[in-house]
Amino acid sequence: MMSVFDFKKRKTENNKISMVTCYDAVSAKMLDRTSVDCLLVGDSLAMVIHGHSSTLGATPEMMVLHTEAVARGSKNKYIVGDMPFLSYRKGVVPALECAGALMKAGAHAVKLEGVWGHEEVVSQLVGSGIPVMGHIGLTPQSIHALGGFKVQGRERDAAEDLVQQALKLEELGCFSIVMECVPSTLAERITQSLKIPTIGIGAGAAVDGQVLVLHDLLGFNLEFSPKFLKKYMQGAAQVEEAVNRFDQETKSGAFPTAKESYA
Ligand code: KIV
Repeated sequence: MMSVFDFKKRKTENNKISMVTCYDAVSAKMLDRTSVDCLLVGDSLAMVIHGHSSTLGATPEMMVLHTEAVARGSKNKYIVGDMPFLSYRKGVVPALECAGALMKAGAHAVKLEGVWGHEEVVSQLVGSGIPVMGHIGLTPQSIHALGGFKVQGRERDAAEDLVQQALKLEELGCFSIVMECVPSTLAERITQSLKIPTIGIGAGAAVDGQVLVLHDLLGFNLEFSPKFLKKYMQGAAQVEEAVNRFDQETKSGAFPTAKESYA
């Protein structure tokens, strides 16, 4: 299993980091058998699992429940738990309580979005022994302020602000930073200006690692095909085919046979 120190080491040694989302025990067990480095219990679970239209629906209770499930299923992966909407904006004490609950649930680190206005929270978490992963660029918890799911940092000022956010997160003690939907050249510039690794999603190839939502990379979400996504299998079509076969065999009597029956 990776440790928090391995993230920086990967960057120094020019070895990429891979991370996928994971929300439940059965997926965690499957992912434990893969070579992926890190599991993210992302607040995207509000959309993927709970059907919300944004990540704003995620609560600390939901994040803890799913982190516990992932931790029960995984024995050898580094687990990062997402701090949900507003959980780190109400002051240091509520933020410490939420992060503490995620760590007790089995996370090895927490992730939170942005930095301006909660610098003190980040430094208190780090100072309390909780590794913090930053997240900049498209920060889905601010989707209404950002005016939708769009590439960030295209304008000069916005790009400069992202560079400053990354540097501040490093200064505050974050061990890595997710960069979501930023132009590749900007992602490269930020990556080169940091000692800690960047993990990109829609941030091009010149970063220190990549993260994708598991259900997206498996092709389970038919309606979701953004430019940055590569579908490594057609999961929805495969599930449909398998369930239709079960249905047809049930109705034709081909299932169950003696092999699937008790004598
Ligand atoms: O919640 C999530 O799944 C994320 C990733 C997209 C990075 O934050």
